[in-house]
Amino acid sequence: MKPRIGIPEKKLQYITDLLSVVFANQVTLYTKTLKFHWNVCGENLMELHKLFKHQYTLLESSIDETAERISKLGAKTIGTMAEFTKHETIAWTLRRYLI
Ligand SMILES: [Fe+2]
Repeated sequence: MKPRIGIPEKKLQYITDLLSVVFANQVTLYTKTLKFHWNVCGENLMELHKLFKHQYTLLESSIDETAERISKLGAKTIGTMAEFTKHETIAWTLRRYLI
């Protein structure tokens, strides 16, 4: 159901499209943070393990907020790996600058 909040339909679509990109980036970052949490090694293993756990726990709540905001704005929230891969823009950035 489309909300009646005074935003024209075309702009509402634009906003939910952008939020879907944010959402896909959050899920991608969450997944990568879990991977680092599971695979960290070295002398700071326990500190980094805890740090990554703290980060992915924070990401979980922001992911849920974004998904529910998309839904409240009347759009379908993406949820498959194919959809996340199609919408995300952060993996390229992480590969280029951090990994
Ligand atoms: Fe763990």
